[in-house]
Amino acid sequence: MPRIWVEKILDEPELYIMRIDDDRIRYFEATWDIPEGITYNAYLMKTGDAVVLFDAWKGEYTEEFLETLKKLVDPKEITHIVTHHTEPDHSGAIPALLEANGYRAKLIGTTFAKRFMEGFYGKKVVENFHAIKDGEEMRIGGRTFRFITVPWLHWPDTMITYVVEDKLIFSCDAGGGYGMPDAIDDSDEKVVQEYLPHVTKYVVTVIGHYHKYIVQNIKKLRSLGIVEEARMILPGHGLIWRRSPTRIFEHYEAIGAGKPTKGKVLVVYDSMYGFVEKRMRIVIEELKKNGLNPVVYRFTDKEAPAVSDVLGEVPDSEAIVIGASTYEAEIHPRIRYTLYEVLDKANYEKPVLIVGAFGWAGVAGKKIETLISRSKFDLVDTVESRGMPTKEDEEKLREGVRKLITWLA
Ligand SMILES: Cc1cc2nc3c(=O)[nH]c(=O)nc-3n(C[C@H](O)[C@H](O)[C@H](O)COP(=O)(O)O)c2cc1C
Ligand SMILES: [Fe+2]
Ligand SMILES: [Fe+2]
Repeated sequence: MPRIWVEKILDEPELYIMRIDDDRIRYFEATWDIPEGITYNAYLMKTGDAVVLFDAWKGEYTEEFLETLKKLVDPKEITHIVTHHTEPDHSGAIPALLEANGYRAKLIGTTFAKRFMEGFYGKKVVENFHAIKDGEEMRIGGRTFRFITVPWLHWPDTMITYVVEDKLIFSCDAGGGYGMPDAIDDSDEKVVQEYLPHVTKYVVTVIGHYHKYIVQNIKKLRSLGIVEEARMILPGHGLIWRRSPTRIFEHYEAIGAGKPTKGKVLVVYDSMYGFVEKRMRIVIEELKKNGLNPVVYRFTDKEAPAVSDVLGEVPDSEAIVIGASTYEAEIHPRIRYTLYEVLDKANYEKPVLIVGAFGWAGVAGKKIETLISRSKFDLVDTVESRGMPTKEDEEKLREGVRKLITWLA
């Protein structure tokens, strides 16, 4: 059963979080394995004569959302609904809410959001929609709400709200992460430490394709001076940041920029019958001998890691080693898919060493080489050979690792 949290965050303005921990989901966006689950966070603010709702929950949890909301307010009393981003993990429950509200509330979002809401849920939903301009301010319930667009964080429709008097940033996907942390905010460092890797995985798999916009948008918010002065960052997924609000954006910036952790080398490979494996053991040994820290993901007939987990390791790796067998004149299917997603979602300037094994004609190594050459990654070397590695192959592999190390120096 999904756990539901309803907690008061502030007395003045009266502010609540409504959070549901989705422990039923297995593949976010029908793709990304998330055994850690995800939360959907909506916020309710009572200020002066206004009752403002910030986002909602996924459609699957509409009933739970309405029940939870009714503990705080009669839905008819909601005067404004801010839709920061219309992906249905946040907007799914809005049509039913509007129905319960008697269509009294004004919807606020970007022009894109208006178009997407209409496309998803029909005309009636957007009858009372106010499309904001970037930086526009509205006085609501005696407070100043500033709406700032952050395109591609995560969709073209996305914006954040800054409540000027209280220095609150409602950030929806930006600042969110996977996982169902055992707290609503960042006050417990242990909870934060467990949660941050889920944030990285979330950022890469969900927003990774647009990672340059992460850096760009946070820069924009910084230049407006609101990041430094923010008292709280309230995202649509995961923890609220109130002990150190800027920390989550710093974490996002580090991911966006691909800031490396010293010595970390991501090693990913497949091995059907152990020939690639033999090569990778040599590579891993040589990496360790040189003081590096290989983080290894292998696809074999006994194990298949989640590609989402592999992706989460890319941003802070210093370098990558990819090992692949040739499979029907192609890259082995598992590595083919993994690589496809790495290049799409986690395309960073990092050095790559390619290792290949084949039976009759090497194809995998060369195909990976072509893909890497066309990406932002830097090709260090390709070491590909037939079947069982010979002494000579072993020397070439060690030499490849040394070239990688020289690259990092
Ligand atoms: C289903 C299958 C398809 C293969 N296709 C090719 C191929 O097209 N070209 C080739 O040179 N070797 C091919 N091989 C041979 C493997 O690439 C070779 O045995 C390699 O050493 C396998 O390493 P591994 O056991 O670590 O996966 C194929 C092997 C299998 C099982
Ligand atoms: Fe999203
Ligand atoms: Fe989301």
